[in-house]
Amino acid sequence: MQKISVRSALSADQVGNQVKLEGWVRTRRDSKAGFSFIELNDGSCMGNIQVVADGALTNYESEVKKLSAGCSVRILGEIVASQGKGQTTEIQASEVHVYGWADPESYPLQKKRHSMEKLREWAHLRPRTNTFGAVFRVRNCVSRSIHNFFQERGFLYVHTPIITASDCEGAGEMFKVTTLDLDAPPKTGGKVDYTQDFFERPSYLTVSGQLEGEIFATALGNVYTFGPTFRAENSNTSRHLAEFWMVEPEMAFVDLEGNMQVAEDFIKRIISDVMRDCGDDLQFFNDRIDDTVLATLTAMADGEFLRVSYTDAIDILLKSGRKFDYKVEWGTDLQSEHERFLTEVHFKRPVILHDYPRTIKPFYMRCNDDGKTVRAMDVLAPKVGEIIGGSQREERLDVLEQRMQEQGLNPADYWWYVELRKYGTIPHSGFGLGLERILQFITGMGNIRDVIPFPRTPGSADF
Ligand code: 4AD
Ligand code: MG
Repeated sequence: MQKISVRSALSADQVGNQVKLEGWVRTRRDSKAGFSFIELNDGSCMGNIQVVADGALTNYESEVKKLSAGCSVRILGEIVASQGKGQTTEIQASEVHVYGWADPESYPLQKKRHSMEKLREWAHLRPRTNTFGAVFRVRNCVSRSIHNFFQERGFLYVHTPIITASDCEGAGEMFKVTTLDLDAPPKTGGKVDYTQDFFERPSYLTVSGQLEGEIFATALGNVYTFGPTFRAENSNTSRHLAEFWMVEPEMAFVDLEGNMQVAEDFIKRIISDVMRDCGDDLQFFNDRIDDTVLATLTAMADGEFLRVSYTDAIDILLKSGRKFDYKVEWGTDLQSEHERFLTEVHFKRPVILHDYPRTIKPFYMRCNDDGKTVRAMDVLAPKVGEIIGGSQREERLDVLEQRMQEQGLNPADYWWYVELRKYGTIPHSGFGLGLERILQFITGMGNIRDVIPFPRTPGSADF
């Protein structure tokens, strides 16, 4: 008998087929007429299929009538047209095999709705809920879309290291890598010796694959990297994680304008792929999490992103008459409240801010001739704020070395990065998209901890 997913079983063209389904029981309801309805979900889609289990099944009294939420089962049977409202098909079971029971007294995911905070404590079970099933299907779809977008344009996927010696963003927010010495003396419990340095120099978990990406862009053309990155910033907000996934394209012979255009096309492509492939999940987010999700995504897929200079944005904020918690002043970084004002109140759509003050941006960004600004860009989205940060890179050897010194970095520590400017330097640009930030935007989930399977934040690395 052919194994199919619940997703395929729900489509009308399966009617008449004998199939096998495997999954988890959501609910069981017994009819007075001596049979039962089981709602079955296998994670393949938002919907459940209704299984009709007849009283004539040999294990009807002994097992079927004891099924409850969370039990795992295999169903054999025929897909039939459903009489019930809101569903086209159901399965008439010829066999119900129970793989595993779930004690209804202790199984946490009962009918009652749980808070997001509570569900975070059950990271091992929350993927079985409608909300998290949808989140992780959308996360998969976005990941596929990211690869498709770049692969179709001939970008090479490069794997940049997780363990590194350099601090790309120069912000000092790095986790240090230490070793575990199993032969350590008993006074340390025989286990841990934090003094040993495996790499014979300080090494850290990467904050960004950009610098290594530049090595490959200046040899192979357009490349991208996509993997986990780590920030030891102690900000306990709904938009920051200590471990998050970033996709970073790096493009040879591309300037800031070209960079902004790729960023815009990229985001629009992700959104239209999700709208095409995850319609039911988006509808769920719109109905249950944030009723602006569909309208915002539709507007974003069609409309143009505005391009506004940092200097003009500061003017707009100053003239807005708004009282912000953080003072607006040329030369300081924008806070979330400023970004939200620009995208939600003033422009009412995504905005790409560009040409930021050089003093608030990292050493690698290309300096403008005004001596005050750099060729940086941030893509800001309503509700979430910054989802992309990027720039044209400084390709002039002398300017780069001067900028490093300005920021207290020793060019000798970055000798390999500097050499890319010494030998056949080229104009090039790139950006980083935070996967969880765009997922927050797409799903409307209020907290970034709820769009990653196992969130790591200050004070919390359970599971
Ligand atoms: O703006 P950031 O720090 O830029 C870079 O790391 C560059 N090296 C990227 C590049 O040009 N290749 O980070 C890029 C994006 C942000 O716009 C945001 O979406 C996300 O990464 N991000 C975070 N997401 C979750 N938690 C955090 N703590 C994040 N920090 C940055
Ligand atoms: Mg940034």
